[in-house]
Amino acid sequence: MRNILVTGGAGFIGSNFVHYVLRKHPRSHVIAYDKLTYAGNLDNLEDVADDSRYTFVWGDICDEENVDHVMRAYRVDTVVNFAAETHVDRSLTEAGSFVHTDTYGTYVLLEAARKYHVERFHQVGTDEVYGEVMNGSAAEGWPLEPRSPYSASKAGGDLMCLAYSTSFGLPVTITRCTNNIGPYQYPEKVVPLFITNAIDDQPLPVYGDGTQMRDYQFVLDHCEAIDLVLTQGRPGEVYNVGTGVETRNIDIARMILRLLGKPESLIHHVTDRPGHDRRYSVDSEKIRALGWAGRHSTEQALEKTVRWYLENEWWWRKIKSGAFRAYYQKQYTDRLAHLSNI
Ligand code: NAD
Ligand code: DAU
Repeated sequence: MRNILVTGGAGFIGSNFVHYVLRKHPRSHVIAYDKLTYAGNLDNLEDVADDSRYTFVWGDICDEENVDHVMRAYRVDTVVNFAAETHVDRSLTEAGSFVHTDTYGTYVLLEAARKYHVERFHQVGTDEVYGEVMNGSAAEGWPLEPRSPYSASKAGGDLMCLAYSTSFGLPVTITRCTNNIGPYQYPEKVVPLFITNAIDDQPLPVYGDGTQMRDYQFVLDHCEAIDLVLTQGRPGEVYNVGTGVETRNIDIARMILRLLGKPESLIHHVTDRPGHDRRYSVDSEKIRALGWAGRHSTEQALEKTVRWYLENEWWWRKIKSGAFRAYYQKQYTDRLAHLSNI
């Protein structure tokens, strides 16, 4: 990996991955390519801006000309595609941008990767493509049964990647990861939303009864998994990445309140997310066999995340006082008007 194109590099996981690669691979040059949507934020990369091994390029992965230019100009040999519309709730009201970026944008990147004979194209996928898993854990060969516009669009991206591997021999790998938490996560996602609301003594809006389960992992554990697959994974293969530990949303809310010393009366049950998947669960034996093991338990990941948000108010207050306010009002005003305390 000499010249790594990190698409979506100004987002949550992408920016953590940029930091990770600059630390771990001193001889690599990282080109972060990002459209800077509401979720992209150059504050996430402020501390590496002067690093000569890092370049930021503004651009859309759906823009064929720009993608072609970047691929050629920087002699890209490795692509790691994080760029996506990522929030399930937004996909329920504005699905078009999800189909466009998550499926069509992936195709544009694949075409350019094929043209320039990249050595590896890595797609950052999600466990949500398996759909709701009520029993057992989904292995990589399970059928894809996505249930939200977000997960359906991501499944489209994954399938294009596998098609380019089969049809053209493009060296593609895919990881399908569970919920990440950690620094720089946009506060629309449940953990940073609950932490920042709790710090401000605002309600924590728990959808429905709060018994839905997610597998939360620390973002740098996910970055390590991607790095491992880039260096040890077999082209054409998919690797699930999960801790195997599931936590109910209501318990995540309680854990956050406990860590912050805030009362449980801040928890409010609100109208559920339409089509809310109750449980995801992946079987991660395949990546464990490559040598991956997450370093953080759910508690440790949450503790580190809470600490980061406490210590970095400069980062999230700017977001929460900006365009996010309109989104929050639209998404939560009615829900919170009918709120009920536990
Ligand atoms: P994010 O929303 O924080 O960041 C997405 C980034 O992509 C932003 O910087 C945004 O500006 C950029 N982007 C969006 N559309 C673009 C376009 N058309 N062209 C170029 N850039 C564009 O998302 P995240 O949580 O960091 O997720 C990164 C990837 O990991 C996504 O592909 C997501 O599906 C996947 N994933 C996320 C999680 C999670 O828990 N957050 C878990 C599994 C997989
Ligand atoms: O599983 C991986 C996926 O995890 C990623 O592919 C997605 O990009 C990422 O957004 C995440 O999807 P989720 O829908 O699981 O994450 P979210 O943080 O939106 O919600 C987590 C759980 O919390 C879910 O059961 C819904 C619930 N929730 C969410 C919000 C925003 C609430 O109860 N209240 C809320 O306000």
